[in-house]
Amino acid sequence: MNLTHRPRRLRGDGVRGMVSETDLDASDLIAPVFVDATTDERVEIPSMPGHERVPVEEAVARVEEVRETGVETVILFGVPESKDPDGSRAWADDGVIQRATRRVKAETDATVVTDLCFCEYTAHGHCGVLEDGVRGAPNGGTAADSSATAAGDHLTVDNDATLENIRKTAVSQAEAGADVIAPSGMMDGQVAAIRETLDDAGHENLPIMSYAAKYESAFYGPFRDAADGAPAFGDRRHYQIDPANAREAMREVELDVEQGADVLMVKPALPYLDVVREIRREFDHPVAAYNVSGEYAMLHAAAEKGWLDLEAVAYESLLSIKRAGADLILTYFAEDVAERLH
Ligand code: PBG
Repeated sequence: MNLTHRPRRLRGDGVRGMVSETDLDASDLIAPVFVDATTDERVEIPSMPGHERVPVEEAVARVEEVRETGVETVILFGVPESKDPDGSRAWADDGVIQRATRRVKAETDATVVTDLCFCEYTAHGHCGVLEDGVRGAPNGGTAADSSATAAGDHLTVDNDATLENIRKTAVSQAEAGADVIAPSGMMDGQVAAIRETLDDAGHENLPIMSYAAKYESAFYGPFRDAADGAPAFGDRRHYQIDPANAREAMREVELDVEQGADVLMVKPALPYLDVVREIRREFDHPVAAYNVSGEYAMLHAAAEKGWLDLEAVAYESLLSIKRAGADLILTYFAEDVAERLH
């Protein structure tokens, strides 16, 4: 039969590579690294096989392991030695992220992105200062009592008070040597606050990778174990985006662009590829997608049962995220996939 169109003509072994539309490269990948000031040895994270929390003393060694796979950039998350209602260890000059960043910058060639949020630093686990009346947890408390649960129903993070703490934290991360600041708290106006503060402090060339469209997602579960950042009561639906909304994400992104965001991030990645695609279409900025802890954990769990081929689904996941329009991918698979690429 004479068929004009036979798409499979381009699928032969010698030709398919030539017409392949999407490439994954180690330079597209950013590996999350957890630095924990409460431990003096590496601690495995059970729900994220292959990942650990490392003490500050091991941060350089951990980053070197990442770099050996070909991945050049890490995003650092910190677990502080102590927590309080404001999360003040987030902007301490001798804070866990500041110490780790200084060392990694001094002793490796890695590019360091610092996550800027307070949920790992506040006693109540929310991403900022709580409004008066729902302060909930006293210093070090868990707020898991019944009154706190009631407070959680009406819980609001005080947006503008949190912006002041974001400013302090951004400067302290910049001063420690961060190459990119990545605010993830979803406070309104956070990009403008950081940009203004960094510029005033002489860091006008330091880029901001904004978690611009960050959803209130159940896929963050394993991360919250890893970074000890689960809210002690309530949830984050008053500040993170409703999973039902895509147009709202575009508005969030537009606001961050107006405020000077340099890179636009979507998070999580796989359940939100429509949002990645839409941002790619509408904006010319680099787009990043965060392939989050739950996306990692579910593939591992299925592979452990023998139901999926881990290496293949990890690669396909990252390829899909790029195909949707992401330039950069933050992923716990960074090292494994990078190793496979060469
Ligand atoms: C901090 C933050 C979170 C993640 C990255 N930064 C948790 C959250 O918002 O609850 C999640 C990352 C992951 O699940 O891999 N706000």
